[in-house]
Amino acid sequence: MAKDADSDPFSAKLRVPEALTFDDVLLRPMESRVEPDDADVATRVSRNVTLNIPVLSAAMDTVTEAEMAIGMARNGGLGVLHRNMTVEETTAQVEAVKRADELFIRREDVVTASPTQTVREVDELMERAGVSGAPVVDDDDTVLGIISGTDIRPFLEVGESDQVREAMTDEVITATTDVTAREALELMYDHKIERVPIVDDDEHLVGLVTMQGILQRREHEEAARDDEGRLRVGVAVGPFEDERAVAADEAGADVLFIDCAHAHNMNVLDSARAIKEEVDADVVVGNIGTREAAEACVDFADGVKVGIGPGSICTTRVVTGAGMPQITAVSEVADVAAPEGVPVIADGGIRYSGDAIKAIAAGADVVMLGSYFAGTDEAPGRVITMNGKKYKQYRGMGSVGAMRSGGGDRYLKDADEGEEFVPEGVEAATPYKGTLASELHQLVGGMKSGMGYVGAESIPGFKQRARFVRVSAAGQTEGHPHDVMITDEAPNYSPDQ
Ligand code: XMP
Repeated sequence: MAKDADSDPFSAKLRVPEALTFDDVLLRPMESRVEPDDADVATRVSRNVTLNIPVLSAAMDTVTEAEMAIGMARNGGLGVLHRNMTVEETTAQVEAVKRADELFIRREDVVTASPTQTVREVDELMERAGVSGAPVVDDDDTVLGIISGTDIRPFLEVGESDQVREAMTDEVITATTDVTAREALELMYDHKIERVPIVDDDEHLVGLVTMQGILQRREHEEAARDDEGRLRVGVAVGPFEDERAVAADEAGADVLFIDCAHAHNMNVLDSARAIKEEVDADVVVGNIGTREAAEACVDFADGVKVGIGPGSICTTRVVTGAGMPQITAVSEVADVAAPEGVPVIADGGIRYSGDAIKAIAAGADVVMLGSYFAGTDEAPGRVITMNGKKYKQYRGMGSVGAMRSGGGDRYLKDADEGEEFVPEGVEAATPYKGTLASELHQLVGGMKSGMGYVGAESIPGFKQRARFVRVSAAGQTEGHPHDVMITDEAPNYSPDQ
């Protein structure tokens, strides 16, 4: 008798569901009255943290350190600091981001002069520090005056060894720590000065507000800021790294990202749950890629991050045979997370702005990118030149190089002394791209245009309204420039991406 195929457990395995990724789908154009410039891209990255653009920079040691995090937050997004560094370094980097746009520079960072220094010494000190003026304080930090380049200049001609007390302005205008940006600016305009020392009740110096600092803050109206007006920052923590989690939380991190390649490992989830209990910051759990994984963590996670092997430098799928194409992964997770009010982050595989907005259509609230930003000035590492072209280094956190510097537990394994790693990523170079701001302009501009094609004014509205069509191989070819030779590079398209 012929065997019934349905009862055969191995044949049954071949009746498999299909999983799709970015190139398999396109947004169906729909009736619209939305001009791209009017699209509002504000969103939530986690239950309690909102952003003005739906974009994160990846927690990778060739992508996000403090400089990238500052740039991302100033542009309305969020940088997630990588964790191939000591806990002390993590704390220092969180503090650097938090301080970057503070209204006043704290005492320890203020360049000061003493009344008995010579005018020449102070001139050299200010030049080295790159400042054009300094409060003058005595030994117990009482503010006695202020000295600027304008005060010093005449003395350099005739009395460069005179003491600072001769040259300084001693009628100094000060303010207290509760001064607002507007009040500080008014003081500066009224008294025609460019800096105001901040003092405590005993006239001791505690900080300094500068005109330049206030104007710089004004430039970044769309910045992602916390309740105190400081820039927001995310921090990656290993699945079992409570020490880093607590330290980053205490330093002021807004969101902690449990950084694991397979967060549906129940030991990882137990540990993430325990970390969540210990900290005030929101805790995002990742990476996951299935409905079942989402069900296992939406009760406690403040956000879920999706991506099993879509990244440009990932070899997880070829090395382990496991993975989930990203559009399907995002939509499965969003089906579970969205009704619970848990934001979804689509992490990895995004090459173009069109991929980013497709990820949102599939149910993500935010996208995370690595390779897209690795070539910018704000990414760590220097520019290298090969065959006359400029590049920056970009490597997977599961590559041999990155694992050697400490990131092995993202992949839930470590090599013993002398043992070889089993990597799940490669080390590469990516074209140098210039400033982060111009990359973000292209990325977010393209996403807004996508919202215009669908007729949605906001990210939540877009998620509801957007529909996909399935694209054939011929349709994919049609979607890229074809039958021409590109003569001028577009700022948002490269055939090699
Ligand atoms: P993109 O495509 O933006 O992807 O460069 C960045 C994301 O890739 C993940 N990542 C890795 N995945 N092996 C992997 O399988 C790796 O070595 C690796 N390093 C990073 C990570 O989620 C990142 O945000």
